[in-house]
Amino acid sequence: MEITATQGAWAKAAGEILVLGLCQSAPMTQEVAALDRALHGKIRAAIDAGEFSGKWRETSLLYTEGRIACRRVLLVGLGKPAEFTQNRLRQAASTAARQVRDAGAAQCVLPVEWGQVNGISTADVAQTMVEGLLLGLYRFEAYKTDREADKFRAGMLRVSKVEDHAAAAAGARRGEIVASAATYVRDLCNHPANVVTPTYLADEATRIAADHHLRVEVLERADMARLGMGALVGVAQGAATPPKLITLSYRGGDGPPVVLVGKSVTFDSGGISLKPAEEMDRMKYDMTGGATVLATVRAAAQLEIPIHLIGVLPATDNMPGGNAVHPGDVLTTLSGKTVEIINTDAEGRLCLADAITYALRHKPRLVIDLATLTGACVVALGHHAAGLFGNDADLMAALQAAGETSGERVWPLPLWDDYFSQIKGDIADLKNSGGRPGGAITAALFLKQFVGETPWAHFDLAGTGWNTDTARPDLSKGSTGFGVRLLVTYLSDLAQSSAKKSKRATGKTKHSTPR
Ligand code: BES
Ligand code: MN
Ligand code: ZN
Repeated sequence: MEITATQGAWAKAAGEILVLGLCQSAPMTQEVAALDRALHGKIRAAIDAGEFSGKWRETSLLYTEGRIACRRVLLVGLGKPAEFTQNRLRQAASTAARQVRDAGAAQCVLPVEWGQVNGISTADVAQTMVEGLLLGLYRFEAYKTDREADKFRAGMLRVSKVEDHAAAAAGARRGEIVASAATYVRDLCNHPANVVTPTYLADEATRIAADHHLRVEVLERADMARLGMGALVGVAQGAATPPKLITLSYRGGDGPPVVLVGKSVTFDSGGISLKPAEEMDRMKYDMTGGATVLATVRAAAQLEIPIHLIGVLPATDNMPGGNAVHPGDVLTTLSGKTVEIINTDAEGRLCLADAITYALRHKPRLVIDLATLTGACVVALGHHAAGLFGNDADLMAALQAAGETSGERVWPLPLWDDYFSQIKGDIADLKNSGGRPGGAITAALFLKQFVGETPWAHFDLAGTGWNTDTARPDLSKGSTGFGVRLLVTYLSDLAQSSAKKSKRATGKTKHSTPR
């Protein structure tokens, strides 16, 4: 999809379908009224006839009969102004994009001004529109030999004022980067496990590093064993495909890094504690955390966010086999702590334990891990919010706020020590399963044993990473790419506030320096 931003009157924008968002029961803005006049009152007539009311995500297609440069106008409902958010705008744009594609058009024009409800900035509207467009059009067809024909090739953002053009163009570029990060996650997770192996993920990281001048390190099974990563090696010992521990570093700034750790179980069969057959195919997405980390580091580099960012991916299959760990086995983690394997299906926390300990070698300012960690989190929060855990209230609040702006919701769950007795080991330090009660919490509490004093947050993506709901126009069936937009928002804000702080600090030193 080719995305451009142009400036000029809406009516003069040359294209096929002009997409026009309208709020429910709100007066027409000046621009809309002008367009309606050019169309001899067609928009007003559609509203008066009850064909279109502006209800969120409602659409109606009008023919312009040569009165403006575009042949058709697609009205798309934005809902009541008081309820309007960027999330609603994104979904409206996705709905419109799908309609444009279904209408067989190759191009559409998206005037930015109609999205500026409730004072959202030009750049943010442009970014959100482009995100909506690209996320809504996503389809995973890599293995279809008979792909659906699709002519839709170009989206043109339009601003009427000259002074808005640069902001719209910058927002559009951001939208493209962020959306392509999310669709990259979708691709990685939708591809099956016979394609996306740990080796495949290592090759992807290596390619990203080459494309964006980043550093990459790939540890092999023998390296992990030598270092003493007994937990990760233990999970991997049943797997025929070689495990990899991948580190991708982007040095966009100085100082201690932010480390992102992503669970990268390329297939989770459960191991000897085998999962039931039903929906086991879905467990190819158990590397969602790792995919999200790769995509986020890539996006940070493309956006040139001034931050020191490191991604760590412990990648392995979890398989049964003659060499697989037995329930009852005791593994020694890189941290030295020992773990009794109660259930080989609780493998994510084992991989993450060693990856987190390894991440601490970078002396990070903070660690965020992302994992499709527990079925219990799906039970607790369903598919509309990821579980959020952590040991630092400020970090968690900032992540939750970033979730609201990005439309990727997260909700905090407790990490009280009261739950610890469930994961206290009988013959070792810890057990890898705390049983069914509070399963998402005991899993997070297990991870907490490995983070020490470092500010840390954990996202449980089990419920949000995969979509079976067809009602969301910005999500496709299968992998959602949830989390990338949240992280990019958070990291951009963090870089900005750090820059401000250090500016203030330098300002202060200047004044206090004796002359
Ligand atoms: N990858 C799964 C978690 C999962 C389950 C993700 C369902 C998405 C949908 C994880 O490795 C797992 O199997 N967790 C177990 C832990 C239990 C054995 C303590 C679970 O949630 O059942
Ligand atoms: Mn499992
Ligand atoms: Zn798993």
